[in-house]
Amino acid sequence: MTKTVILISGRGSNMQAVVQAKIPNLHIAAVLSDNPQAPGLAWAAGQGIPTAALNPKDYPSRTAFNQAMLELVAGHAPDLVLLAGYMRILPPEFCSRFANQTINIHPSLLPAFPGLHTHQRALDEGCRLAGCTVHFVTAELDCGPIIAQGAVPVYDSDTADTLAERVLKVEHQLLPQAVADFAAGHLSIQGKRVINCRIAGEAEQD
Ligand code: GRF
Repeated sequence: MTKTVILISGRGSNMQAVVQAKIPNLHIAAVLSDNPQAPGLAWAAGQGIPTAALNPKDYPSRTAFNQAMLELVAGHAPDLVLLAGYMRILPPEFCSRFANQTINIHPSLLPAFPGLHTHQRALDEGCRLAGCTVHFVTAELDCGPIIAQGAVPVYDSDTADTLAERVLKVEHQLLPQAVADFAAGHLSIQGKRVINCRIAGEAEQD
């Protein structure tokens, strides 16, 4: 079983997509948050998944909060840490502790537009394609080895909100599939590249 801890900060629709996918060999041990009011926490609790939140305001410094979150996550001894809309930058200690076992979903076609406001930036640059990326997390923000990407067209009438909605539908497909591939042991990291032996197997059959 791949014991998994999911970190969220808000509505948690990607977390819901992963839970609802009922992925073989995946056990969701907990959904954790830096936001006690995150709507996704209540949803997860309603599914019978253990939840917990740490409020950064309860800590004297960002370092103290980060250390507490690291200990909370480590207490579950997870095989996989899944960032599903977790809006904090993980400190280097976290990234090294859970190296090659932390996965993030980011709403752009990386390496374009790391960081925030990805959809508005894609519109401002006149991109004709936008999308999302699932990647392993390293200490460098949104730069880890890419597991999967999905693209959508950008329409002339798009706003950041309409584009976000179109991309989100793809996120909900892409993330559960990437997690399933991780849990099935299909992914191996070679430098910056991720080799997915499920896909390689399909290609060989073509
Ligand atoms: C998603 O767009 C995800 O790519 C980004 O934050 C958003 C979270 O949405 N990292 P949700 O909380 O999963 O609904």
